[in-house]
Amino acid sequence: MIDYSTISDFYRNTDLSAWAQKLDTWLPQHIAENIHGNFDEWQAILDQLPRVENLSIDLINGAILKGHTDEAALEASLRKLMPWRKGPWQFCDTFINTEWHSDWKWERVAPHIDLKYKNVLDVGCGNGYYGYRMLGAGAKSVLGIDPNFLFLSQFKAFKHYAPELPIWQLPIGLEAITEELEFFDVVFSMGVLYHRRSPIDHLSELKKLLNKKGTLVLETMVIEGDENTCLIPHDRYAQMRNTWFIPSVKMLEIFLKRVGFKNIRCVDLNQTSIEEQRKTDWMTYQSLEDFLDPNDHNKTIEGYPAPLRAVIIAEQ
Ligand SMILES: C[S@@+](CC[C@H](N)C(=O)[O-])C[C@H]1O[C@@H](n2cnc3c(N)ncnc32)[C@H](O)[C@@H]1O
Repeated sequence: MIDYSTISDFYRNTDLSAWAQKLDTWLPQHIAENIHGNFDEWQAILDQLPRVENLSIDLINGAILKGHTDEAALEASLRKLMPWRKGPWQFCDTFINTEWHSDWKWERVAPHIDLKYKNVLDVGCGNGYYGYRMLGAGAKSVLGIDPNFLFLSQFKAFKHYAPELPIWQLPIGLEAITEELEFFDVVFSMGVLYHRRSPIDHLSELKKLLNKKGTLVLETMVIEGDENTCLIPHDRYAQMRNTWFIPSVKMLEIFLKRVGFKNIRCVDLNQTSIEEQRKTDWMTYQSLEDFLDPNDHNKTIEGYPAPLRAVIIAEQ
């Protein structure tokens, strides 16, 4: 069971109220049609999370939950929600050392955007790690959307201990929002654009969700080159099947301009290291090192340039 009534409570007095109320009827049906077969099992794990006494939450220094609890029971429950990809998370004494050092990416993004008192949307939010960090940076509310039900369950594990926080996650893809909401002050799309077959449509869809003074934070893979350079992998890229467009920063800026964004600037460029994305005992499958050329970490195993990621900020 997913209770989203507090979303409509929160957005009741805002321009999002009609849409949030629509969710009451539309969302249960959408979930019923798309739910993952293991979701009830994951939900049962969440229902059995142990009580935490003297609980406090620190979202400034990380996604950190402090308190006293049955540590063994807590860790056992959280391990049943593996693999954990985005993080790290601290649940009392249990440190979830995730595949990604998402805190490193957050440190590259956060200095470039003021989130204080902002209503934020995080598209492709994964397990909500960044959403909690956005609250820590002063956001008024955070709504995350991501169709993955395991990631939703991980998000809910933290929210279980902090139900009052103004953050929610919906198990829906961006395409499920058909309305031009024109509501959010800041929309994030991180790690999503290269998975879209139609990147310009993705940017237009994001734009329609922003209010008139809104800001887009786009984080995506790019390639070195001029405004005419774009990599379209023949098949897999770093073993990923669903990678479509990896443009240069210059070409990406043209994409953004064409859909009407202004004041576009690239604020960070970073080649992903095998220290930032790696196998851990909370994500035991293959990771970046296995997807790179063993003799040259500047190339993927398919011979393409290794993952280089840009953070771009653009305004309405
Ligand atoms: C590479 S991960 C990026 C996660 C996180 N934003 C980050 O930067 O680390 C891409 C995420 O997009 C989600 N996703 C896939 N299709 C989507 C869609 N149509 N709308 C929104 N999110 C989607 C996936 O489930 C996945 O969690």
